[in-house]
Amino acid sequence: MEIFIKNDHKIIMGDAIEVLKSHIPDKSVDLIFCDPPYNIGKNFNGRKDKWESNEKYLEWCYTWIDLCIAKLKDTGSFYLMAATQNMPYLDIYMRKHLTILSRIVWYYDSSGVQAKRYFGSLYEPILHCIKNPNDYTFNANDILVQARTGAIRKLIDYRKPTPTAYNSTKVPGNVWSINRVRYRMSEYESHPTQKPVELLKRIILASSNPGDLVLDAFAGTFTTCFVAQIYNRRSIGIEIEEDYVKIGLRRLAIATEYKGEQLNQLVKTYDQSYTDDKNLKLFEVPDETSIYSENYKDS
Ligand SMILES: C[S@@+](CC[C@H](N)C(=O)[O-])C[C@H]1O[C@@H](n2cnc3c(N)ncnc32)[C@H](O)[C@@H]1O
Repeated sequence: MEIFIKNDHKIIMGDAIEVLKSHIPDKSVDLIFCDPPYNIGKNFNGRKDKWESNEKYLEWCYTWIDLCIAKLKDTGSFYLMAATQNMPYLDIYMRKHLTILSRIVWYYDSSGVQAKRYFGSLYEPILHCIKNPNDYTFNANDILVQARTGAIRKLIDYRKPTPTAYNSTKVPGNVWSINRVRYRMSEYESHPTQKPVELLKRIILASSNPGDLVLDAFAGTFTTCFVAQIYNRRSIGIEIEEDYVKIGLRRLAIATEYKGEQLNQLVKTYDQSYTDDKNLKLFEVPDETSIYSENYKDS
């Protein structure tokens, strides 16, 4: 286990369960976001995302979920993502211990053509849970979106005693249309399941306040901690893979080098220095299909 700290942000390289047990005090965290490995056979830098059985995977999940709940303050919120096929089990488990306020569908379209003989998967489920329905953070005004009826169609509600224009903004519903992270986006990092800044922005702004502590137990590219830093929250990110920890160290500006290696942002194929030899095909950019096809199979 290794710990890296700068100002209000801490990266802990190690196993989530071990770290949660030994390094995070009970009832100390305001907001938890967990996006664990999915048990669908993805490759996290060589670490196989596949358990012996579904039961073993769920047992493992229940262990870190229990720990997360213990670490959460009584006023805290817990967002949990998982593969669609595991979510029913996790939903039942979470329901026993917390109040589920929303079952969010993160929806994205894809120009890809992966599914040819079934209806392709274009969403990921997220549970928004809290400990105490009478006392939790929800900053509705910080996450308002355009209400199409009011803002675009400018309809008047004539059922009111005095006809009144419909609101032009609203709290988002539970279907969130947010682009997934694509290779050409500046936020792209080399990781198979990076979550978008926009997604974490909504979660963090809604369910925490400046100065609050945000925890991500499977940090990956550290999007959660990165967004927490932008919005003046404190953060702890746990990640087991050294290569992903290096992404976190750079993204959070905790370090510019690691074990003598400069931590530079990924150079995109289309950014690489041009050699006049066109035969080298340095500018061949992987298309969306090749980057994302792995994700579409089963998630
Ligand atoms: C689905 S990804 C998280 C992606 C992340 N939300 C992001 O935006 O980049 C799951 C991450 O958990 C990490 N991981 C797997 N097993 C772990 C463990 N036992 N403890 C801590 N991290 C683990 C993987 O290396 C992977 O980066």
